[in-house]
Amino acid sequence: MTVQVAQNRMTSEEIARLSKEHTFFSWSVQGAVDPIAIDHAEGVWLFTPEGRRILDFNSQLMSVNIGHGDQRVVNAMIEQATKLQFVQPAFVTEIRARLGEKLAGILPGDLDKVFFTLGGAEAIENAIKIARQYTGRYKILARYRAYHGATMGAMTLTGDPRRWATEPGLVGVVRYPDTHRWGEREPRPVEESLKGLEDVIMYEGPHTIAAIFLETIVGTNGILIPPDGYIQGVRELCDRHGILMVADEVMAGFGRTGRWFAIDHWDTVPDLMTMAKGLTSSYLPLGAVAIRHHIAEKFDSTMFFGGLTYSSHPVSLAASLATLRVYEEDHLIERAAAMGPVMRAHHERLAAKHPSVGTHRNLGLFGILDLVRRHDPYTPMTNFNATSPEMSAISRYLREHDVYTMVSNNSIHTNPPLCISEEELAHGFEIIDGALTIADEAVQG
Ligand SMILES: Cc1ncc(COP(=O)(O)O)c(C=O)c1O
Repeated sequence: MTVQVAQNRMTSEEIARLSKEHTFFSWSVQGAVDPIAIDHAEGVWLFTPEGRRILDFNSQLMSVNIGHGDQRVVNAMIEQATKLQFVQPAFVTEIRARLGEKLAGILPGDLDKVFFTLGGAEAIENAIKIARQYTGRYKILARYRAYHGATMGAMTLTGDPRRWATEPGLVGVVRYPDTHRWGEREPRPVEESLKGLEDVIMYEGPHTIAAIFLETIVGTNGILIPPDGYIQGVRELCDRHGILMVADEVMAGFGRTGRWFAIDHWDTVPDLMTMAKGLTSSYLPLGAVAIRHHIAEKFDSTMFFGGLTYSSHPVSLAASLATLRVYEEDHLIERAAAMGPVMRAHHERLAAKHPSVGTHRNLGLFGILDLVRRHDPYTPMTNFNATSPEMSAISRYLREHDVYTMVSNNSIHTNPPLCISEEELAHGFEIIDGALTIADEAVQG
């Protein structure tokens, strides 16, 4: 890839200084941030202005699924931007027609209509509105170990501590039990989790509940893969009580797990599905809510009270259609499925070598290592919503060794772009191998 070298390019230091002086950073004490400047990126590699090469082992925010710098997507964006940059969403465009049709073809079951948003949180906001308008009920059930976005409604549904500063949020949001409790190695038995959910439905009154939201596989709260039978059990409870099932596939969707959508592993069709991230591989902002046929039909004769200036933005849609073609042309979804066992073998090798690895999980290239202080009783390396000197040292080690990934609580995420080669994957795990020796020293017993 050739990159135009502009005159008077800024150094990393200048970029960081001015960015910190005049812009805000997400989820940060502003004075504490220490950002890395990136100039360009290709495949699984990020490059600083000075040419330092950093392995992207987390696809940024588990979102650049096809990898960086794909010219097929860039060209599609340029072509659309050259022809038509924007019309407001009451107009229609060829790219909207083509992408709508394409998504209807890959979405599970009879999810065959989408409302386009700007990102994941807005998809959640609109799913809340559609569920309430469709059912005439107002309560929403959501879990604690969940992240659904940072707008007010999505933040209320979010169960993790990022919610606390935004409270009180929406009225009518009620928690139901998680499949995986914090600090435990294994998920709860399916029957126990479903019984807990059924109890909440009973206590709240099914006739008051519009929807049950869940991340099909929980993302930032720990790549929590539900045991077989759970997703089908939630579907059954929803059917029995006339409640809409809303699968949040913003992070788990678009090939990450080796299927188009994570929910495809359990052959279940949710009533609404939210998506973003891999929908464009983050080349441009785009989200969507997919709606089952009979639910969308209700709005044929009833007003949909929702709208966004940038819904169906043509250039974002062009990025999306081109991204979907890349998944297919490069067989990236099959590739993620095939790389799943390769990632698992790395996880297993590290678990066998390092006493600090308490457990590991992955489905396709959606993976994580959980670190522990003790195996028995099982004691995470950090307390809930905390860090520890060991985890901070691991973060520093990875940065010094030019591997970017998410380190949060007691976990190291392993979510590279789906185009990663076996050699690149091995390189990332070799660096993590080195980092884990820091944590091993803290293990007791
Ligand atoms: C499962 C899930 N839902 C929703 C969101 C919010 O998406 P966005 O940041 O695009 O608003 C995220 C973001 O990480 C997510 O992981």
